[in-house]
Amino acid sequence: MARNKIALIGAGQIGGTLAHLAGLKELGDIVLFDIVDGVPQGKALDLAESSPVEGFDAKLAGASSYEAIAGADVVIVTAGVPRKPGMSRDDLLGINLKVMEAVGAGIKQHAPDAFVICITNPLDAMVWALQKFSGLPASKVVGMAGVLDSARFRYFLAEALGVSVRDVHAMTLGGHGDDMVPLVRHSTVGGVPLPDLVTMGWLTQEKLDAIVERTRKGGGEIVALLKTGSAFYAPASSAIAMAESYLKDQKRILPCAAYLTGQYGVDGTYVGVPCLIGANGVEKIVEVAFNDAEKAMFAKSLASVNGLIDACKQIQPALA
Ligand code: APR
Repeated sequence: MARNKIALIGAGQIGGTLAHLAGLKELGDIVLFDIVDGVPQGKALDLAESSPVEGFDAKLAGASSYEAIAGADVVIVTAGVPRKPGMSRDDLLGINLKVMEAVGAGIKQHAPDAFVICITNPLDAMVWALQKFSGLPASKVVGMAGVLDSARFRYFLAEALGVSVRDVHAMTLGGHGDDMVPLVRHSTVGGVPLPDLVTMGWLTQEKLDAIVERTRKGGGEIVALLKTGSAFYAPASSAIAMAESYLKDQKRILPCAAYLTGQYGVDGTYVGVPCLIGANGVEKIVEVAFNDAEKAMFAKSLASVNGLIDACKQIQPALA
């Protein structure tokens, strides 16, 4: 059986890390595409030269032409610009919308059967625009945010409680902005919901509130430290988990920015919800029952996403 093919649009910090992880996990052959000539080629060669040491078999190629992504099974998009200190994800909208137009056209022409994962920010609006520009079915175009935001939430909880990250399950839904919705009631440590851990005295309510707040601002914390760009290791790991679930038909339930058609009372917008990812892409959207407070947080986050989508429509009327 031929190997799967993974195309990475954008060969920057996240793109390079994606290629490294996809190689180490032997997910398939890898093509790195970028508009800066030499960078995708150089990274592909460098990574290929690591393969004998690591012991993985994968063809790695760099490209500056979209023809190279032809027949890709998975396309992961990081093309665009990242945040600098003082910028919000939303500040990237104008520049990255134009990038999505070019990328969407390239995917439409050369990889129309792929499962497409968008990482470019502002995430929910960019994945919405990418689906429109590419014309691919909405079930095959998803955004990576929830796995990352939930991983941050899980890590902070594990660190605070002194337990293995493996035993912490957490879910963060809504848009990928500072008003995202970390779901405290639906997150567990060793199977015990977080509110029960507070009652048991494992965690104070103040500490839990601080962790929720740190999760919401997790991306900004990294930007402030790095000063020259934004997070790339954890975002790459998160997108690879989604790609692997698709390629291996694992049917994992992962929080992803997915196109809603009535679920959660939302129609025609991308926002973060738990999705079952299998060989057909987004095979099912899980509708979590919210209480009033969660409903209000989700509505606020959704309003921010809709604001960004409206801004896209203003800039590019063809999207309206
Ligand atoms: N087509 C292809 N590649 C492009 C295009 C384009 N039209 N425009 C820019 N790029 C490339 C850049 O040349 C660069 O190599 O996208 C790459 C982006 O890489 P980085 O600047 O290192 O950014 P990165 O940290 O990888 O983040 C990429 O993901 O998390 C988001 O906010 C982040 O939007 C940003 C994206």
